[in-house]
Amino acid sequence: MPFPVEKIRADFPVLNQQVHDKPLVYLDNAATTQKPVQVINRLSDYYLKENSNVHRGVHLLSQKATEDYEKARTTIAQYINAADSKEIIFTRGTTESVNLLATVLEEWIQPGDAILVSAMEHHSNLVPWQQLCKRRNADLKIVPVNDKGELDLEFLKKKLNPQVKLVAVNHISNVLGTINPVKEIVKMAHDAGVPVLIDGAQALAHTKVDVQEIGADFYAFSGHKVYAPMGIGVLYGRETWMRRLPPYQFGGEMIDRVSFDEVTFNELPYKYEAGTPNVGGALALESALQYVQNLGIEAIRKHEDVLLEKATHQLMKINGMRIIGEAKDKTAVLSFLVDGVHPYDLGTLLDQMGVAVRTGYHCAEPLMQHMGISGTVRASFALYNTEQEVDIFTESVLKAVNMLR
Ligand code: ALA
Repeated sequence: MPFPVEKIRADFPVLNQQVHDKPLVYLDNAATTQKPVQVINRLSDYYLKENSNVHRGVHLLSQKATEDYEKARTTIAQYINAADSKEIIFTRGTTESVNLLATVLEEWIQPGDAILVSAMEHHSNLVPWQQLCKRRNADLKIVPVNDKGELDLEFLKKKLNPQVKLVAVNHISNVLGTINPVKEIVKMAHDAGVPVLIDGAQALAHTKVDVQEIGADFYAFSGHKVYAPMGIGVLYGRETWMRRLPPYQFGGEMIDRVSFDEVTFNELPYKYEAGTPNVGGALALESALQYVQNLGIEAIRKHEDVLLEKATHQLMKINGMRIIGEAKDKTAVLSFLVDGVHPYDLGTLLDQMGVAVRTGYHCAEPLMQHMGISGTVRASFALYNTEQEVDIFTESVLKAVNMLR
């Protein structure tokens, strides 16, 4: 059955507009995805009919909000196949999920220990570990990336030893589109007794995520990169870990009993959810994942792979074109450079033609240094993009390159 992209586009009114008097071609999905009406309606329904604080009220609205909030947690747990919904901690997004973990793992890292991250990490899965290592006098070790944009797994294997206290690596690179072999990485690390965090910010929208199959101890992701609103995300943390780690923030909800001198902490996952949570965001995230599930992640991936392949093939015809990131296993992200053309100038001209892309470091400055480049132009695809948009995009790149040269 052909992928019903035109029908899908009707769910995303934001796509149906002109920018600079040209039809919008939105190819900045790795930065944030657009939201379908189903998700927007879920959010507005919550505020129109249900808004109330959770786990606090005896009144009906509060009970309904609590029930729905916990149902969202269960749906999300099932979606990523967590063993239990108490392993789903709601956060503001991937960045907060990683910072939460970097805070509560403080005592786990001792002077002389090491944390391994890859050279293709987003700043949010690099800087929290870099700073933790500085605070604890530990070493941050970088797993290199080859010219194609693939991780050096031999290096990773060699560096795993009892001093390594964590491996933190992304599932899909926001710059290169590389899909890392996370299951293999987790197995390698676990064989050496090392826990693993997977940054799944770019993964949920493009590939199946089964945390038990991957075997990760921790898995972080953001709602807004998978058709949900901004300001909601998840840290999946295996129960055995989260039970023994200390709280992150203190306040309401995360406590059990409090006196002026003492406190006991709540059970999982509430121990990690101090303060009033983003209830509407959680309900909308549930709705976004249901939207993806209804279409089928395999079908989405297939559709996006067709777009990626077509766009790559067409861009390669342009003189001086260099694709950044040619991993064997790759999806949805197309970074490139053109000889003699500055990425920013190209991105600005594309915008004038109605095509939204991102230019620059993409929050991965060390990766750029590692690859000896100063930035890229990045087109990133989502389930609502069409082959016709790919044609507009590649024709616009050619036109812009000719103007700039
Ligand atoms: N992480 C986002 C990106 O890659 C902001 O564009």
